[in-house]
Amino acid sequence: MSALPATDDLPDDSILIVGAGIAGLFTALKLAPRPVTILTAAPLGKGGSSTWAQGGLAAAMGPGDSPQLHLRDTVAAGAGLVDGPAADILTKEGAARVEDLIKLGIEFDTDAHGRLKLGREAAHSCDRIVHASGDQAGAAIMAGLTRAAQSAEHITIRERIVIEELLRDEAGHIAGVLAVDIVKGTRLMITARETVLATGGLGGLYAVTTNPVRAQGHGMSMAWLAGAEIMDAEFVQFHPTALDVGVDPAPLATEALRGEGALLVTRDGGRLMTGLHEDMELAPRDIVARGVAASIGAGDGAFLDARAAVGTRFEDMFPTVYDACRKAGIDPVSEPIPVAPAAHYHMGGVRTGLNGESSLPGLWAVGEVACTGIHGANRLASNSLLEALVFGARTAAAITDGDGETRTVDVSQLMQRLTLPTKPAPDALAKSLRAKMAAQAGLLRDDRGLTDLLGDIDRDFAQPDITSGNFNMLIAAKLIAASAKNRQESRGAHMRADYPAHSATPTHSILNRSNAGLDIEISSRSVQTSSE
Ligand code: SIN
Repeated sequence: MSALPATDDLPDDSILIVGAGIAGLFTALKLAPRPVTILTAAPLGKGGSSTWAQGGLAAAMGPGDSPQLHLRDTVAAGAGLVDGPAADILTKEGAARVEDLIKLGIEFDTDAHGRLKLGREAAHSCDRIVHASGDQAGAAIMAGLTRAAQSAEHITIRERIVIEELLRDEAGHIAGVLAVDIVKGTRLMITARETVLATGGLGGLYAVTTNPVRAQGHGMSMAWLAGAEIMDAEFVQFHPTALDVGVDPAPLATEALRGEGALLVTRDGGRLMTGLHEDMELAPRDIVARGVAASIGAGDGAFLDARAAVGTRFEDMFPTVYDACRKAGIDPVSEPIPVAPAAHYHMGGVRTGLNGESSLPGLWAVGEVACTGIHGANRLASNSLLEALVFGARTAAAITDGDGETRTVDVSQLMQRLTLPTKPAPDALAKSLRAKMAAQAGLLRDDRGLTDLLGDIDRDFAQPDITSGNFNMLIAAKLIAASAKNRQESRGAHMRADYPAHSATPTHSILNRSNAGLDIEISSRSVQTSSE
């Protein structure tokens, strides 16, 4: 493959969105009538983790609920690191964004009176999760957004395009992407006035994940390489109840099952959460995940027992989980489901302001790749799809309000990376990195493990057959490991065996690229409270 990319310039005022999950599609729709091009590695609607989301949308829409209560639960789950102004926006604007989806024809579950049926998930103080077809919210929302995007005149969708690097112009503005057309096998340089990353998360960096394996944090890596600030990379959320049936990625058993009363039990039937938290199965997710891991580690096993709480209603209420259980030879109506924690969601990512803007002009981030600060150290269940909608809409509004200046692209600094082969990461490197991330940067961390991991990652960069896929995967792993090593405390999803206590003052980790090489500079930033 040639080191020199073909140029594929879009009109000067165009907007590029990388990623076609819920964040990317919703942002694109909200940008109407401005011309938008969406790049997606998979055929539209077929890739990414959005479609797999089982939980739903947390929004204060029910009787007795309010944005203030939702805010309070979000802040409590986030273990001192939730940014107040961002979470305030999320909880106040959430209901209007759910209404937007309803107007697009997306059908959510309703009761006999036609009112939205609201479910409960861990650490929510009231019923506020909007579901679709039981456990198929992600699929329903994606189907509706896909239909709308396909018929929107302002949106061009380019499938089977994988991005490898962000382009910067002479003034340091992000001005598009370098990409590969994976059908033609050619490299492209696609320029745009505004570039929006909606590339999703990074569970695929871990041996056990509920995400598609190719979700390996490439968007965050490319943003950091281009000079954008990354925030709180160390906070990776593990879902406590992935099916432990030897499948990669691991199928999820939604938290809504515990919301319905399903119990976590050991092999001998004892309650696994006894003594760990007063809210038992509905304790914050990090606590439940560590409880499940400890029970497995002690040889007692971990099982989700839905027999009494859900029983024969299982297939109707949770068709996706039911199907995954049956494929694994388990009947959840009559037997407990073996479960284990799995990497599920990245709270950290590209640091953004309240309108999706990154620290680099021309670069925006929405959805899981972004770090708005609303999740803090531990995301409240079902806040992520809502975040994608709320901040996607705000990003679109801010871009629309922009000044319309045009930019030129200087490619001279990009040639070195372009000599890397573009094929996906060879399995051997990815497999060994995923195992090391699980062991050393997973649910329990310490200085020694993280130091060893960082040494291994640095050695892997020097491997002779490294591809651009490997390279971006290693950068993402390095950002997480370096930030985890630097945070000498335990907080939310980040648990250090050698620093088990909270520090007195919570701070965000800010990661910058300190030079032209791959050295990471880490500093602290104070948490914004609502009154600031
Ligand atoms: C779940 O359904 O348990 C996942 C929901 C979420 O991750 O927010």
